[in-house]
Amino acid sequence: MKLSSLLIVLTSLAYMGCGGGGSDDSSTNSTQDAADTVTDVDDQVEIQIEDQQNVPKFAVEDIAIGYYGLIYDESGKGLEIDKDQVLLMQDKLINDVLLNLDDEQQKTFTETQTAFEALKDSENVDKVLFKNSLIDAMLSNADKSVQDKYFPSFRLFRHHTHLLYPISRLADYSWILDFLSQRSLLEHLILIPPQQQDSDDYIETCRDNDVPIPPDWGSNDWEYRGVAETDFLGSDRTEVWAYSDPAVPGACMALPRWRINEAAGINEVDLLGIICQSANTGKACFWDNISKETGQRIRGGEDLTFKIADIHNGDMLGENCTQCHRGKNVFLIHPGTAIDISNDYDIDPNVRYQPVSSQGWTNPPAFAELGDGACAGCHEIGDLSFSYCNMLLKKAANLTMPNADNPAGWVGDDSFYGTHIQAMIDERCSP
Ligand code: HEC
Ligand code: HEC
Repeated sequence: MKLSSLLIVLTSLAYMGCGGGGSDDSSTNSTQDAADTVTDVDDQVEIQIEDQQNVPKFAVEDIAIGYYGLIYDESGKGLEIDKDQVLLMQDKLINDVLLNLDDEQQKTFTETQTAFEALKDSENVDKVLFKNSLIDAMLSNADKSVQDKYFPSFRLFRHHTHLLYPISRLADYSWILDFLSQRSLLEHLILIPPQQQDSDDYIETCRDNDVPIPPDWGSNDWEYRGVAETDFLGSDRTEVWAYSDPAVPGACMALPRWRINEAAGINEVDLLGIICQSANTGKACFWDNISKETGQRIRGGEDLTFKIADIHNGDMLGENCTQCHRGKNVFLIHPGTAIDISNDYDIDPNVRYQPVSSQGWTNPPAFAELGDGACAGCHEIGDLSFSYCNMLLKKAANLTMPNADNPAGWVGDDSFYGTHIQAMIDERCSP
């Protein structure tokens, strides 16, 4: 009942979008809720769904953050999608996005929807699958502001619909595939087969948060950027590698830290941290070269290879990377050195960065916001943890900041930066 009246709204909408009139089978045969009114104002489609039953409990765009099987709104309140809410939520989103498209696009997408419904008596799982593809296509055609508003939430939502309406064999849905492919919409069918859903939840969570996924180590997709001239951690040799996915704005960096293995008499990669950050959502994901299977470092030379899915990630790493990796963006960049990839890669997110981790990692609010004090003249100063103070601030002030030729120095004096640095020392940096 709920569903049938909803379908009427949609089919009617489709008719009006095509500029057509008249009624179709479903609206004459079914019982229509009187409250559902569809009006045609100046050739523009306007829908009012006043029936409370047809309004989803929350909208797709209310979903702000997702970890594992959980989703939250902007204030951090947990949300749960009921299975029987999925179609309602999709329809609301379709209607909302539709209003943001031009007439031509409205026509195309409403026609597509009508054609799909006319094709065959589909199951809910079919509809969910189709509507997700339709929404993806609509958003891909929308203005950037509309994409920014809906895409991140929609990706999280879509992932959950796959869990609520699992698809075991894509072959069972070949008629939908054919339909989408005839309309050049196949690329908008984004599916995570159930086998893969379990294999690495962290990677999926990162993907859902629009974070680029790093290639496996050893892949040619990694770009070698050179040896880091400055290394606060003092490794024997530190290489900088970077990766970007043309389809996912943002960047990945890998930092193999080499050391001489005295016992074996060889030089090898000891630590190999990997971080990827989404330019759209500001979410960042972390990996380190520790084997999931053995818990041991995976060390090696030039021929070192491993799979990203096989190493420790932000959900399980013992070391909390956010003790140091904090600030507006996740990366710790020494400007003008090899590690500064900002000319070629997008490392400045649209939204202040937040880590993806089920371990409660955070990027706490800044110690000094941008513009708040001398040192924060060019960038915010991240919240002061003991590691951040001693590993980052102290060394930066002594070596790299505000520039490497003339660093401010850590011990406060009456210089321009002195007072600000003294405030930081007093705050939380001293033992
Ligand atoms: C004690 C502070 C500290 C911690 C904790 C830390 N890092 Fe870093 N990391 C740094 C510093 C400092 C740099 C900049 C290069 C340098 O000076 O060594 C850096 C650089 C990196 C880079 C290169 C990209 C960039 O941001 O410059 C990656 C990748 C990285 N770290 C990964 C990790 C991962 C993964 C973890 C958690 C397992 C981690 N780091 C924990 C201090 C830290
Ligand atoms: C003239 C502009 C400027 C001023 C002033 C400045 N910084 Fe920076 N700082 C930068 C840039 C650019 C980066 C690279 C930031 C990025 O892309 O994430 C940076 C990075 C850093 C980093 C991260 C890693 C590194 O190389 O050190 C720290 C920590 C830092 N600044 C501390 C300070 C402190 C402390 C002061 C005050 C003494 C200061 N900065 C003043 C421009 C500035």
